[in-house]
Amino acid sequence: RTNTGELSIKVSEYTHLVKALRPLPEKYHGLQDVEERYRRRYVDLIVNEQSRKTAINRTRIIREMQNYYDSLGFIEVETPILCLSSPEGARDYLVPSRVKQGSFYALPQSPQLFKQLLMVAGFERYYQVARCFRDEDLRADRQPDFTQIDIEMSFLNQQQILEMMEELLQKIFKEAANYDVKLPLRQIKYDDAVNIYGSDKPDTRFDLKLHDVTELLKNTEFGVFQNAKLIKGIKIDNVSATFTRKYQDKLNLTAKKFNMNNYFFIKFENGVVTSSILKFLNEKIIENLKKEFEVGENSVICIAASASKRDVNFGLGALRLELAKDFNLINKDEHDLLWVVDWPLFEYDEETKTVSPNHHPFTRPKDEDLHKLMTHPEEVYAYCYDIVIDGYEAGGGSLRIYDGKVQSQIFELLGFTDEDIQRKFGWFIDAFNYGTPPHAGLAFGLDRLSMILSKTDNIRDVIAFPKNLKARCPMTNAPQAVSDDQLEELSIKIIKE
Ligand code: AMO
Repeated sequence: RTNTGELSIKVSEYTHLVKALRPLPEKYHGLQDVEERYRRRYVDLIVNEQSRKTAINRTRIIREMQNYYDSLGFIEVETPILCLSSPEGARDYLVPSRVKQGSFYALPQSPQLFKQLLMVAGFERYYQVARCFRDEDLRADRQPDFTQIDIEMSFLNQQQILEMMEELLQKIFKEAANYDVKLPLRQIKYDDAVNIYGSDKPDTRFDLKLHDVTELLKNTEFGVFQNAKLIKGIKIDNVSATFTRKYQDKLNLTAKKFNMNNYFFIKFENGVVTSSILKFLNEKIIENLKKEFEVGENSVICIAASASKRDVNFGLGALRLELAKDFNLINKDEHDLLWVVDWPLFEYDEETKTVSPNHHPFTRPKDEDLHKLMTHPEEVYAYCYDIVIDGYEAGGGSLRIYDGKVQSQIFELLGFTDEDIQRKFGWFIDAFNYGTPPHAGLAFGLDRLSMILSKTDNIRDVIAFPKNLKARCPMTNAPQAVSDDQLEELSIKIIKE
């Protein structure tokens, strides 16, 4: 079945082990219909060289990680799959118990709490190739079941951890892609990433930075600008002729998705300025815009304005990415690795005035912000870091809370009652009574790393048997209905609408 290249074999005797009843379907060669490819993934893996390669690349990454962690004295520990909910922010997959009817296990969204308890247990350095399960809206870089390379360590500070992880990434990139990563990696503060690139996982292989033009535009006659809290823009060069109405409509779709309802284009084409908001822009403003954005002969500026700073930043950030892809600004031969550090501990919902964790509820607030925790939680920053590669979040981690009182305060801020805390996390908080060492950790998304190293932009390409965007397995057709007997054993009744 495989091509042996130069090699010829003289056969003197052979045994016919098995007869194929059908030839391999020709249509699988370079087949574009991915659903069909994954329906008979075993054929796809035989005939499509790229599919085989990506599956093999994954093993190399795991091996490199295992060797590295072994050499540093890490112990591999397996944690349970049938467990209680681990709050990483997604919906849980639930498994009904037959023995305790009406009760459910949750599949782990990550081994977070177990690995922290291993630190209490004195393991000091733990790692695991961990299967994780999250019921969330799927995207090209997400699967409902995926794999993390998960670690936890005691007594290290943030910088020591980042350095250790960088060294590992350098080895992996060399081994799996023969790519040289230069160390140390850049560290960007979360606030800067959002302000400059409009993203908490910025792709910095291209420029297109966001410029704040609030001061410059807020005093125009234009109501939208007058009412905005933030006005920002990005400029792209040498594109004005291709910036047709039709293309702008395409960008509109992205803008809408990010609640960017008020944004405008200003086109500079061979000395002529055109824009739907031109009547609000006098000559001086145009000159200032030109200076601010270093406008060229054929540039376009996109300006966004809103009462929500977040919508302006993230909306323009999404547009920035789309423009870079459409106008080929990304050098695909380069990899771009950086840390996003100093995250706000919580995301703050201005409407409901509630907070939710930016990572998970076990992330340690910065010492200097602790005094504001209960009064201004939205102003508190965390010892928290994400590794961002080519604009993907390839991993993330944090220093952990090791003081039971702070942990209880965080739960309280998240709206848990004492009873909730006791029922859901009592077993965890109890461990703090026995002296928890300062500890920290991180998890790489193995599938995402493998995807980046294999230069594909769909996570399914690097997974042997992936699910589709509806979380269905195209091969087995899981999930499926189960028999009435099975349901009865579990005391479950399906109520059809
Ligand atoms: P986090 O939730 O950031 O952190 O997950 C770690 C990494 O796992 C990958 N990842 C995914 N990959 C594919 N499909 C998904 N649905 C998916 N969700 C996450 C990402 C992400 O960076 N317990 C913490 C880690 C820690 O604090 O140590 C955690 O799970 O690459």
